[in-house]
Amino acid sequence: MRKAVIAGNWKMNKTPEEARQLVSDLKPLVKGASCEVVVCVPAVDIAAAREAAKGSNIHIGAQNVHFAKSGAYTGELSAEMLVKSGVEYVIIGHSERRQYFGETDATVNQRVKAAVEAGLKVILCVGEKKEEREASYTDALVEYQTLIALTGLENKQVEQIIIAYEPVWAIGTGLTATDEQANETIGVIRAALARKYGKNVAKKVRIQYGGSMKPSNVKGLMAQPEIDGGLIGGASLKAEDFSAIVNYDAE
Ligand code: PGA
Repeated sequence: MRKAVIAGNWKMNKTPEEARQLVSDLKPLVKGASCEVVVCVPAVDIAAAREAAKGSNIHIGAQNVHFAKSGAYTGELSAEMLVKSGVEYVIIGHSERRQYFGETDATVNQRVKAAVEAGLKVILCVGEKKEEREASYTDALVEYQTLIALTGLENKQVEQIIIAYEPVWAIGTGLTATDEQANETIGVIRAALARKYGKNVAKKVRIQYGGSMKPSNVKGLMAQPEIDGGLIGGASLKAEDFSAIVNYDAE
């Protein structure tokens, strides 16, 4: 059985003081969760979030990482810097980075390799745009995005990767993929992993759904057999909403 992983993606929200507050508010609310709980925070919030999360089941993630070990890359952060700051997870290849910051499949692959080498747990984002779904390219595209991002990793490393399937048209729009659509496309990703790395690897990889996941739709999505968690943007900014998502299976 794969352990579900629910991760908040705060994007460019929350000052350190607000981060401290949100994590403190979350602590008691998520403490009985059956899933892995992660908050991916802005880099300047890492110290505050980590301090506030001490002694809890809340893990800290970052939202990007550079592929070089060090050097003249103004504004960037290395995997080692993140690890040494207490970060355990990192989102790579989010569609907003692909769309607004020139992220390509090739640089996503470089970042994934650097992060894995440094011991970070990668949340690799893939997903199609609206026009790609309408043109029936979804399956081919997510397969390509996934396999190219993992190029050069060994099977043991691939098993540890978390993939977030995020249809771009569902991010921040209030539109959600139907439970069946999300399950089907995640199944396509898992089948591609099975073809390339074997069934045993594919069945270990956790694949999240992301895109307007919220308390009202989490149960239906999580009931799908292929869906192993969620990457949550907007609804991760309020303790009440995020904890309701995390506790999707509570009585
Ligand atoms: P959303 O964002 O939940 O606000 O749609 C998800 C994401 O971009 O990871």
